[in-house]
Amino acid sequence: MSFDLGLAGKRALVTGGTKGVGRAVVETFQGLGMHVLTTARRAGEGLPDGVHFVAADVSTEEGCAHVSEAVRERMNGVDVIVHGAGGSSAPAGGFAALDEAEWQAEMNLNLFPAVRLDRSLLPGMIAQRSGVVIHVTSIQRVLPLPEATTAYASAKAALAAYSKSLSKEVAPHGVRVVRVSPGWIATEAARALVRRVALENAIDDAAAEKVLMQSIGGIPIGRPTQPEEVADLITFLASGRAGAITGTEFVIDGGTVPTV
Ligand SMILES: NC(=O)c1ccc[n+]([C@@H]2O[C@H](COP(=O)([O-])OP(=O)(O)OC[C@H]3O[C@@H](n4cnc5c(N)ncnc54)[C@H](OP(=O)(O)O)[C@@H]3O)[C@@H](O)[C@H]2O)c1
Repeated sequence: MSFDLGLAGKRALVTGGTKGVGRAVVETFQGLGMHVLTTARRAGEGLPDGVHFVAADVSTEEGCAHVSEAVRERMNGVDVIVHGAGGSSAPAGGFAALDEAEWQAEMNLNLFPAVRLDRSLLPGMIAQRSGVVIHVTSIQRVLPLPEATTAYASAKAALAAYSKSLSKEVAPHGVRVVRVSPGWIATEAARALVRRVALENAIDDAAAEKVLMQSIGGIPIGRPTQPEEVADLITFLASGRAGAITGTEFVIDGGTVPTV
């Protein structure tokens, strides 16, 4: 029995596709014969041949407009949108360290790119009566860390509420909207953090990884998630095999979230 995902030939926009999860999604989609357009502020090295790249800052209105325009010009529309760009640059130090600019920056990167790109590209999906939108949230939205992630977690919580509302509105038009909520992912940035903690504490990388896992309450499977594992989940959700799935969130965290 074959398990064909039926994604060959579909057109995908993947934001943040030069690194981490976005990069793994781009490579998986390209390998399945999809047409892929990705975006980041700087071109990544060695994107697979045939992937369209558009340089843009999606935390701005202009950046999102530029990406939507490129999607229409280069692919004549889109079937799958994966909102991978996101992250946090907020300082540690609790609520008092978060000024207006820090709050705005977290919202600008973790909420508004999805809102703006969806607003621009959904009418095309509705007109073709098919499409899938995948918002990458974070387990932080249910497990915020007061010292360092209040604004980021709040932005991801807003993204989740927005995503749920959108899913209800567009489902009758043939468009599915789902959320993928990762825990700690072993991206390049995460590996750099492990290295830094190791150097600062004069311990090896494995011990530093344990320290970091403990700081988020532990990971029952004993390791962070690989970007490719998140990409596999996203790929399934993007496919027609997940045709009855919309408006829900899929946690991929090795068991980190401790509640039911
Ligand atoms: N890493 C984790 O442990 C973790 C855990 C839970 C959730 N997540 C979420 O998963 C998603 C992917 O995270 P990741 O860690 O894989 O990301 P990453 O490795 O930090 O890569 C981020 C990607 O987004 C791009 N990007 C960042 N800011 C951008 C901007 N303003 N405009 C356009 N592109 C931008 C980056 O390229 P440029 O820098 O060149 O722009 C890069 O391609 C994010 O939404 C993140 O919040 C991550």
